[in-house]
Formats: sequence, C-alpha cells, structure tokens
Amino acid sequence: MTTATQTYEETLHTLSEASVHQHFDAFLDIEWDHPDFAIRADVGRWVLPEADALGRTDWYQELPHERQIEVGLYRQANVTKVGLQFEQILIAGLMNYAFNLPNGSPEFRYSTHEATEECHHTQMFQEFVNRSGQDVAGCSRAFAAAAPFLPMAAKWVPFGFFYGVLAGEEPIDHVQKTILRAGDDMHPLLQRIMQIHVAEEARHIGFAHQYLDHQAPKLRRFDRAILSIAVPIIMRVLCDQILVPSRQARKDMGIPRSVVKDLYWRQPESRKMLRDLFGDVRMLAEDTGMMNRFSRLVWRLLKIDGPASRFRSAPASAA
Ligand SMILES: [Fe+2]
Ligand SMILES: [Fe+2]
Repeated sequence: MTTATQTYEETLHTLSEASVHQHFDAFLDIEWDHPDFAIRADVGRWVLPEADALGRTDWYQELPHERQIEVGLYRQANVTKVGLQFEQILIAGLMNYAFNLPNGSPEFRYSTHEATEECHHTQMFQEFVNRSGQDVAGCSRAFAAAAPFLPMAAKWVPFGFFYGVLAGEEPIDHVQKTILRAGDDMHPLLQRIMQIHVAEEARHIGFAHQYLDHQAPKLRRFDRAILSIAVPIIMRVLCDQILVPSRQARKDMGIPRSVVKDLYWRQPESRKMLRDLFGDVRMLAEDTGMMNRFSRLVWRLLKIDGPASRFRSAPASAA
C-alpha cells in the first residue's frame, strides 16, 4: 500500500514491485485465436458505443447499420494505432531519460519497467490493428514528422516530457475507463485489451504525477515560468493528436468536415468533455506551481480550464 507518509523513493519501489507481480504479456495473456475474440464474429458489437463522442453524433446515428459497423471498426482500430504511436515515442523518451541517470537512482528501475510494459502495449495494439483488417492511417502527418524529435525532450527537459506523457495517457485512460464503466455490449477482444491497458496505465500515470511533484520544487524560477505556459499547450496539442481523427482518417471514414468541426470542439457537450479530461492534470498543475495569472489565461484560451480534481486515484489503487 502507498500511504501519504511514503517517501518518493518508497513509492517508486512500490510501483516497481507492482510491475513485477502484476504485468501482462501481449501474446500470453490474450487468447487471440479464441473464437469469441475473432473480429468478424459478432460484428454488431463494433458499432461505436455511446461513450465515444463520434458515436453520439446525428451523422453517425443516421448511417445504415453496416456503415456504422465499418466506421466503428475503423475508428476503434485507428485510435488504437495512434495510441501505440504515442507509446513508441514514450518508450524512446524513457530510454533517453534513463541513459544519464546516476547509479542508484530510484527512477531507473521504474522507468524501465514502464518501458517494458509499453512495449507489450504496442505489440498488443498492433496485433489488434492487424486483425481488424483495417489499414488505418494512424496519427497526423505533422505528428509523424515530429515523432523522431519528441523523445529528445526527455533528456533535456524531463519535466516537460513527463507532462507530455500525461497529455497522452490521461485522455486515453479517461476515454477507456468511460467506455468500460458504461458497460456497453462491447467486443470481448477490445474489452480485454482495454482492461489490461487501464490496469497498467494507472501505474504509469501514478509515476508521472510522483515525478512531477518531486521535481517541481527544484525548478528554477525562470524554468518554472516557461514551463507553466508550455504545460497547457502540450496538453492541448497532444490531446488533439490523440482524439481528433487525422485528415486521412476522416477521409477513410467519410466523416463530413462539419461533423468533425462540431465535435472537436464546438458543441457545448464536447467542450465539457475536453475540460473534463484534464481535471487531474489541473490539480497536478496547481500542486507543481504551474498555475499563475498568465498560465491560467492560456488554459482558458485553449478551452481546457475548469476546476481541478480534489484527489486522484492514488498509486496504491494503481498497484
Ligand atoms: Fe500503454
Ligand atoms: Fe503508459
């Protein structure tokens, strides 16, 4: 159990031990060839759940059932692909981060546990994409172009990098938990994948929060000021990369431009969703000295302001 009195080192040790005793292997822990897991079995289950904002649009609701299935499968495979591309950047960044850590550093062990788990996630996600039969587009071109350079941030500005990690992990985790909680009649393969992912992400998110909390007091005044402005921008840009389908993906699914514009993020309902995604991060931003008069304005301009969460699931429940 993680308690309030645990030191940073102890918490990282707890997280590391949890990684040893509870982890998943993409090819041992999913029975890919189980008949229930066949993508083509029970195709109706690929219709987008209510929890997916795209699934709630009038445009989607009015599609013929068969098109709903096609779009639903593409959409879910594409989100999975973008997720794994983020994880690839994260793994590369973790290696850059760990490279120069001093001997005996408590972060070394946990960050490499995390990289191991993310490798399994990329395998699990890619296997799902392959079996979906959808040749999905994945991330946008701009993001693909930036991908080789983003992991360098982990070496030079690890504080900013770990905020970026949260920008990727929090929205995906939030969406997956919402879908699992809604208890819709989802496809058992995707359900299994999401359960595995949510379980391990809880630790990763826990580590990022711990790391940022621990490092924040050591920041120089100038760095803190710059980072406070950068954090909301990182959050918003990366969140859009994950949640908004790229131009190619929109084309592949045949989603009209107006539908995309409304959904991301003109409608009041989707605005609310965008704000809600970052409640935990706003709490962390308060705690790590990232909220000031100027940065609050940036959060507001980027439409991700709002109340901070009062508590988040502690790493104990993650472990
Ligand atoms: Fe992951
Ligand atoms: Fe993760």
